[in-house]
Amino acid sequence: MAKDKTTFTCTECGGTSPRWLGKCPSCGAWNSLIEQVAEAGPGKNRLSAPQGYAGLAHAQPVMPLAAIEAQDVARTPSGIEELDRVLGGGIVEGGVVLIGGDPGIGKSTLLLQAMDALQRAGLPALYVTGEESGAQVALRSRRLGIDGSQVQLLAEIQLEKILATVDATQPAVVVIDSIQTTYSDQLTSAPGSVAQVRECAAHLTRMAKGTGIAVILVGHVTKEGALAGPRVLEHMVDTVLYFEGDTHSQFRLVRAIKNRFGAVNEIGVFAMTEKGLKGVSNPSAIFLSQHSEPVPGSCVMVTLEGTRPMLVEIQALVDSGGPSPRRLSVGLDKDRLAMLLAVLHRHAGVACMDQDVFVNAVGGVRISEPAADLAVMLAITSSLRGKALPRGFLAFGEVGLAGEVRPAPRGQERLKEAAKLGFSVAVVPKANAPKKPIEGLTIHAVERVEEAMNVVRGMG
Ligand code: TYD
Ligand code: MG
Repeated sequence: MAKDKTTFTCTECGGTSPRWLGKCPSCGAWNSLIEQVAEAGPGKNRLSAPQGYAGLAHAQPVMPLAAIEAQDVARTPSGIEELDRVLGGGIVEGGVVLIGGDPGIGKSTLLLQAMDALQRAGLPALYVTGEESGAQVALRSRRLGIDGSQVQLLAEIQLEKILATVDATQPAVVVIDSIQTTYSDQLTSAPGSVAQVRECAAHLTRMAKGTGIAVILVGHVTKEGALAGPRVLEHMVDTVLYFEGDTHSQFRLVRAIKNRFGAVNEIGVFAMTEKGLKGVSNPSAIFLSQHSEPVPGSCVMVTLEGTRPMLVEIQALVDSGGPSPRRLSVGLDKDRLAMLLAVLHRHAGVACMDQDVFVNAVGGVRISEPAADLAVMLAITSSLRGKALPRGFLAFGEVGLAGEVRPAPRGQERLKEAAKLGFSVAVVPKANAPKKPIEGLTIHAVERVEEAMNVVRGMG
């Protein structure tokens, strides 16, 4: 194949250079040049064509939106219920899914299981492995008990060969494991570089849209949490799923953060077992740790991710710090923690200025909703005072800078789930207080942070 000419384009100013430079010759930004295949055609002069645009391309027909018939997308359930839940019902024809997560969290395992299920449901599946050899994948399939599977396997990392194979074998769904190991012949950059990842993903996306073949891309997440190099990939694909969870614990969450074919923030819950990932259909209690006695610095909250409420334990440790005390949070937003500490100080008179503050959402789950605020604050105060919250206690609610406690969406559902699991005392925003009492649950409705603190103090 003849190599197209490549150029390097600056991500800051759009300037180009024929070779890679550390500093952009146009705007002087450092490390901003990215390799790209040069476009054929008149390129730069296009928009300034003096004769107008008609000479450059034919006008295309347009039609009113009302004249276009809406079509439901064709989906095939993968047969793995928790995966289908995050996908919004199943694999979509021509849909491109990016699935990210830490190494070893279970991406390859889940996809091998899903491909086998799809194959058995009558969708020919091709699994392209660039990270492991065919023998390694076969070994995994034996462990999963699917070694008789008809899923087609290809151990290949070169994009052009992968595309040719897809063309020849015509599967209904292709897994690329992973996009970081795939490279295109057309670029000189190393596999895994931003340019390669972007170029390969763009080609695969185009192929999916052109043929109706569903494509699933596996991407590794860097320590910073961004998909290595390309957040750009998130814009290209239809669906972005992230694997979350602590590799040391059994449970894994798959979260949809973008989905053109379904709801976002829906989550699928799995348990990693000896025989692969098993769906957890009733996950509400999996993120509670089992203390025999209530301990200081722990407060349970109910989060509502997607359609199911889940109880999560928030832990805090407040300990005297050095000259510059540390604030550390795992699974919760760090900036939000700083804000909550300020609110705690100003509105509730609880000062942690000279203390190290650590907070953690148990089980490796990430909580992005602000409804965690109240539980975080109560866990911090509990740790600071060395006094445990009562048994069966829970709290949720967003806290504002003015010290007000704002309602969380669908509060009733959260409270009902907590009552079902045997919780007996709740501190919740006033607007979330149920009109009818919930059996077994004493509810304290509060409007302000200081009120919440007083309620808890009164509990002994
Ligand atoms: P893997 O799917 O290879 O992760 P990723 O593709 O995201 O890097 O998962 C590997 C981990 O899962 C590994 O630590 C072993 C464990 N595992 C099980 O516990 N049970 C199993 O049945 C399988 C296949 C893997
Ligand atoms: Mg893998």
